[in-house]
Amino acid sequence: MQMGKLLGFLLLSSTLFIGLVAADWNILNQKRKNGVGSSLKNYCESWRINVELNNIRGFEVVPQECVEYIQKYMTSSQYKADSERAIEEVTLYLTSCCSLNGDGKDAWIFDVDNTLLSTVPYFKKHGFGGKKLNATSLEAWMRESKAPALEHTHKLFHEIKDRGLKIFLISSRKETLRSFTVDNLIKVGYHGWTSLMLRGLEDEVLEVQRYKSKARQHLINEGYRIWGIIGDQWSSFEGPPSAKRTFKLPNSIYYLA
Ligand SMILES: *[C@@H]1O[C@H](CO)[C@@H](O)[C@H](O)[C@H]1NC(C)=O
Repeated sequence: MQMGKLLGFLLLSSTLFIGLVAADWNILNQKRKNGVGSSLKNYCESWRINVELNNIRGFEVVPQECVEYIQKYMTSSQYKADSERAIEEVTLYLTSCCSLNGDGKDAWIFDVDNTLLSTVPYFKKHGFGGKKLNATSLEAWMRESKAPALEHTHKLFHEIKDRGLKIFLISSRKETLRSFTVDNLIKVGYHGWTSLMLRGLEDEVLEVQRYKSKARQHLINEGYRIWGIIGDQWSSFEGPPSAKRTFKLPNSIYYLA
């Protein structure tokens, strides 16, 4: 009897103890054997999320200690899930947003790189954001027209087109890359856009944000109603005129101001 009570007490207290430990478990409190590893992970994830929030701006390189983390993220199922979630929100918005009035002036804007096409294969071979962007080498890669499509956006592109919206691609790629860009887009299944706007010589001196806002003004002047923009850079949305909604896709490899 005495023994039974003691055992019961021991069992009870050990479950209580386990219970307390379990209650204290928190994803933010996770400490593996290697506490340093976990705080670096926290540091890099907080760097990444603050890039997405546009609190960290104009970075030229990913912090050296986070290059591996960013590479992991940008090639992970989490990156895919985050992108797919953004696209689901677009689909949701599309169910109620746009009273298209059939005059052919309803427009939607897409970025090209890391929105329709992925440059991740290039960055895999070139330091994954840990080295300053080398425009010459990136453009040489773009001329090969072998960037893969981002699956989630690919589906959406056609949904938007099928709804009767006119699609405008506004890219910070140079005008000299036009034929390679068109080839690449068609090769991976994009077609039927209304216009592909690229940076001519006079636009190359402008910041990307100014150039894109000028391109949108041009559309407004032509009577278009811009229902939405999808892009991976804040410079795709900032400045007037804006769109009714904007949707940001993740990209923590580089920052275009
Ligand atoms: C940039 O890339 C080009 C072509 O690959 C190379 O010749 C050049 O040295 C690179 N520049 C820098 C600063 O790394």
